[in-house]
Amino acid sequence: MGRVATDLAYLATIVAFIFALKFLSHPSTARRGNWIGAVGMLIAIGITFAQKQIDSVWEILLGMAIGGAFGAVAARKVKMTAMPQMVALFNGVGGGAAALISLAEFHNLAPDSGRLHGDISVSIILSALIGSVSFAGSMVAFAKLQELIQGRPIVYAGQQVVNGLLLGAILAAGIAIVAGAERQWLIVALIGGALLFGVLFVLPIGGADMPVVISLLNAFTGLAAAATGFELENNVLIVSGMLVGASGTLLTLLMGRAMNRSLANVLFGAFGQIVAGPAAAADTNGGAVRSASADDVAVMLAYAQKVVVVPGYGMAVAQAQHDVRQLADLLEARGVEVSYAIHPVAGRMPGHMNVLLAEANVPYPQLKEMGDANPEFPRTDVALVIGANDVVNPDARSNAGSPIYGMPILNVDESQTVVVLKRSMNPGFAGIDNPLFLNPKTVMLFGDAKDSVAKLIAGVKAL
Ligand code: TAP
Repeated sequence: MGRVATDLAYLATIVAFIFALKFLSHPSTARRGNWIGAVGMLIAIGITFAQKQIDSVWEILLGMAIGGAFGAVAARKVKMTAMPQMVALFNGVGGGAAALISLAEFHNLAPDSGRLHGDISVSIILSALIGSVSFAGSMVAFAKLQELIQGRPIVYAGQQVVNGLLLGAILAAGIAIVAGAERQWLIVALIGGALLFGVLFVLPIGGADMPVVISLLNAFTGLAAAATGFELENNVLIVSGMLVGASGTLLTLLMGRAMNRSLANVLFGAFGQIVAGPAAAADTNGGAVRSASADDVAVMLAYAQKVVVVPGYGMAVAQAQHDVRQLADLLEARGVEVSYAIHPVAGRMPGHMNVLLAEANVPYPQLKEMGDANPEFPRTDVALVIGANDVVNPDARSNAGSPIYGMPILNVDESQTVVVLKRSMNPGFAGIDNPLFLNPKTVMLFGDAKDSVAKLIAGVKAL
């Protein structure tokens, strides 16, 4: 296939990827974005096969069949709550692929002496290093989220010093190769060191911070792919790698901002260790927990004018989204105004609540982002908190000693009444108590969220 035709097709791919990102940024267009991205990828694969230099077609097809089959089965079977670890796995293999390509290119270009010439050595070293860190780090993130290893931060004295020394040694190996050191083993040592660094870098980070880490590693994989693009002189790989790098970085920063935590705090703060002392104790004012029956709550909801549903991680665990939609329909049929307040880090991955509610066909205009939802609470009769905890914890506003102090929250306590659906008084992700549960305005409806919502549906129907 001619150079111009190839370039045009690659340009079409790049345009498709950019539109895919644009459409993926809103729930109502996200499916279309996914399709456009997939079509872009299909064009890229087709054009690659049309290149004269490709002489191992069958091996590539076999690899694609194995990888494609694994991906298709995994994507269909994965539960929504296990999505972060699947993203970690897929991201990790992307980084690993970039590192392997670099190793192959290193041997292609420097078969005998192990010496590389020109700028290409920088690209090879960068993609080997970043790709290996991303692969190993993503595998640890996967293992933590899948509970194959403990999710709590694994810390020891001098950890950051060890990590710093290791990173220094890896960089020294990279610089030596670029400077022309004629040693084959240096690249192997660099990849081995980078793999070890990836493991050591993620071990001290708490399991629940993994979505942020995965997003960061995703950005790393993008950069590794872009470096591979320079190695292979492939523009589409350079641009798509940079798109992944930029969007992963932005997502990481947005998540950090939504939790009011710096990236340094996420990476080096070992958040999620068992904390004792005043910082861990919420200001409970000595209040008492009031629990209500499902029938009582059904009456409150049915006779309210305005109900705001606040979903959280527990709704995802209980898979209660379809029942929640059914309850909202019943209430709306009775003339109650129902909307949903979505906190940017509710759940365990970006857009978690949007995806679940979209799956249950909740109309998008009913989903309110935090900035739009908060002014509505003072004129809300019932805030129905379904499996959310940290994202409605008033300590974030008022308790300077709290680990989540400063995190923007949904101000549900400004509503007339707050109903909280959860199974127990156990804390959420941050591992801290929530004074909202002791607020005189709050009633607790204990039980699995799906069961509780089913009872509420029955209660409303019976009225
Ligand atoms: P959490 O604070 O984690 O609280 C979830 C609550 O759901 C728990 O208190 C739990 O209480 C309850 N729950 C669990 N299973 C349930 C079930 N089957 N039925 C009913 N309730 C159930 O959740 P959140 O409010 O959504 O906050 C998210 C947290 O994750 C934040 O701290 C956020 O910073 C963090 N985080 C989020 C992200 C992203 S991108 N979303 C990334 C990193 C960290 P019981 O055990 O008593 O039922």
